[in-house]
Amino acid sequence: MTETYHIPALLQPAISGLNLRPDGTYVDVTFGGAGHSGAILQSLASGHLYAFDRDIDAFQNARQLTNASLLTFIHSDFRYLQNWMDFYGVTQIDGLLADLGVSFHHFDTASRGFSFRLDGPLDMRMNRCGGKTAADIVNAYTEEELARVLFVYGELKNSRLLSKRLVQARQQSPVLTTEDLARAITGKTLSIDDLSPQQKKELTLVFQALRIEVNDELGSLREMLQAALQMLAPKGRLVILTYHSLEDRIVKNFMRSGNIDGNIQKDFYGNILTPFRLIEKGLTASEEEVMNNPRARSAKLRIAEKI
Ligand SMILES: C[S@@+](CC[C@H](N)C(=O)[O-])C[C@H]1O[C@@H](n2cnc3c(N)ncnc32)[C@H](O)[C@@H]1O
Repeated sequence: MTETYHIPALLQPAISGLNLRPDGTYVDVTFGGAGHSGAILQSLASGHLYAFDRDIDAFQNARQLTNASLLTFIHSDFRYLQNWMDFYGVTQIDGLLADLGVSFHHFDTASRGFSFRLDGPLDMRMNRCGGKTAADIVNAYTEEELARVLFVYGELKNSRLLSKRLVQARQQSPVLTTEDLARAITGKTLSIDDLSPQQKKELTLVFQALRIEVNDELGSLREMLQAALQMLAPKGRLVILTYHSLEDRIVKNFMRSGNIDGNIQKDFYGNILTPFRLIEKGLTASEEEVMNNPRARSAKLRIAEKI
């Protein structure tokens, strides 16, 4: 276990964006280190917070929270938001917060396999109860499938070259650790200091692409957004923090159009028909916040209110 489970990005604007009411019903679909959940709970009196995390490690952070009796922790992928709310008899929510992606705990724990900076098994599953690992993908997908993953989820223009390298490497011996993967991509034994900034960037994107594929992150996001729209009460707030352009594009288009394809519908007079009023269109962290928390650099906050 790492000491710091997570440091939340843009905490204050995200929380104030929820427009919390002491008696409201809220959902934090990415509980993690409970930074956001903890702040929400502090504002509640008779309301309730439902918090999701697909990683059971996060549950340890539910202990010792103020107003913990107002919290229900749900160990599940947030794509099942609607089913869980039905289970608990919740028909409407006043706000939903999502702080997407992985926590510091994931990046900083070698055995989780999320970072090329730490050698460990090539796992990358947020939920270790089942499903395929990054090693399963790297060793079993065809060269073509690997190229697709790297191109679509890593936006890597040289995805075909990289997938060829992966296939060549696994023909020698299976790619089972983060170090094996880094070596297969860069052709070097892993010493972070020896890698050029370009190689580090490429490796970051390769790891990002595999992580998204392993966890079907974009599929979960799309399903959760659609359920959130159904569940939000009028004036209910949708508060989303994204960390890369793929998820940000989905959230931005959804908030503008109200549908997952991002198709803007217009009325007879050309007015945009949308179920949302945009409140925040992409707030980023201040220089000061980034100095204290460099991982906040890529955070982008979007807030919409259900009309
Ligand atoms: C960036 S962290 C959230 C940090 C949290 N806001 C805090 O203040 O500590 C993202 C968390 O969401 C979880 N997560 C990511 N995708 C998920 C999904 N589809 N369903 C449920 N939990 C998910 C991860 O396991 C991780 O713990």
